[in-house]
Amino acid sequence: MTTTAEPRQETALAQQAPGPSSYRQPFGPGTIETTLADEAVTLDLPPLRLGGLTIDVPVVLAPMAGVTNKAFRALCRAHGGGLYVTEMVTARALVERREKSLQIVHHDPHETPRSVQIYGVDAVNVGKAVRMVVEEDIADHIDLNFGCPVPKVTKRGGGSALPWKTDLFEAILSAAVREAQGLPVTIKTRKGIDDDHLTYLEAGRMARDLGIAGMTLHGRTLEQHYSGQADWSSIARLREAIPDMPILGNGDIWSAEDAVRMVNETGVDGVVIGRGCQGRPWLFGDLQAAFDGSRERARPGLRAVAATIYRHAQLLAEQDGDELQGLREIRKHVAWYFKGYPVGGDLRAKLSLVETLDQLEELLSSMDLDQPYPGADVEGPRGRAGNPKKAALPDRWLEDRQIHDDQRLGLVDAELDVSGG
Ligand SMILES: Cc1cc2nc3c(=O)[nH]c(=O)nc-3n(C[C@H](O)[C@H](O)[C@H](O)COP(=O)(O)O)c2cc1C
Repeated sequence: MTTTAEPRQETALAQQAPGPSSYRQPFGPGTIETTLADEAVTLDLPPLRLGGLTIDVPVVLAPMAGVTNKAFRALCRAHGGGLYVTEMVTARALVERREKSLQIVHHDPHETPRSVQIYGVDAVNVGKAVRMVVEEDIADHIDLNFGCPVPKVTKRGGGSALPWKTDLFEAILSAAVREAQGLPVTIKTRKGIDDDHLTYLEAGRMARDLGIAGMTLHGRTLEQHYSGQADWSSIARLREAIPDMPILGNGDIWSAEDAVRMVNETGVDGVVIGRGCQGRPWLFGDLQAAFDGSRERARPGLRAVAATIYRHAQLLAEQDGDELQGLREIRKHVAWYFKGYPVGGDLRAKLSLVETLDQLEELLSSMDLDQPYPGADVEGPRGRAGNPKKAALPDRWLEDRQIHDDQRLGLVDAELDVSGG
């Protein structure tokens, strides 16, 4: 859908994330310009119910390792309602109380509801991790990750290779539901390993029968990684096959209009947005607007983008308790924020080396901040893409659906070196 250039107005909805009133705002409060979409897209979708949890706006920030930390969640949440999931944490590392894992699942008091994603390859550790979340009141919702396509992980049978082994998959889900003691547990999967080895329909039926509170389907196989287009028809098929469990659709939603289209084409109960919000936390404002039937859409000029980048860096530095670390982390986001904006290569190169908030401020100030929203160049696909790759799997993995003892041994290492999915 195209949008009109006029009228252009300021919105109170699209503001920066909360923080101490004393934080520096060298680029102003970051008020974001909006415009009106040509067509009113309205959607009559009830709040999303995951077990006892009600999410008013049926929109979920997809868990993304290295992206959806506290800082980024705060920025996104400031724009709209929904469920904002942590980066994934491995079950074993959480149970062992590793510092990084405890940091990943930590929420600020304003974050509600709290949602964590756990990745694990055996029922005992997943069960223990879930129990820890419940007993220590770490979150209000738990998502289990079965979507990771990283070869290091799948070649040991973890990630998106795992649902193929139905006995193992069932054991993990059962342990999670049992230990959750009523806290909603959802799962997130891909379609399967490849087109000849699809698992999602069976995974959905098992999940429902085992008391899982909802399922997100990323409409790609493991073999596809992030290539090609997400197959929304598989999401529609899952919806149809499992009418009695909430189904969330994921893959290639780049705008509020895409989200509405996904709901209309597939009948899902909610949408899950990953790469589309990288460098665009205001997308959650657009999503809320669309789900409320409003035509208002954020169309930030360069000053608002600069203000958001600076605020994001502040939040990262605060979250890490380390300015240099925060500034290192902001570098990849800067590339996403500037996608489609007329920012020269020289400045981009300097920003990729930035080490302090003062340097960041100086570099951002050197731009022509009055540049307006550039339009279509900012929209459409962004982030990770790539080509299909033959699935890396343990020996004889596809021969049958039960896990063998030697494969179980190999799984131990499938929790190491995991970087999301
Ligand atoms: C950088 C990055 C990290 C990711 N990390 C995770 C993760 O930790 N857990 C997970 O379930 N999916 C992870 N994903 C997959 C996303 O949650 C999502 O399923 C995928 O990007 C497709 O949705 P999209 O088209 O909206 O991006 C990651 C994706 C990206 C790009």
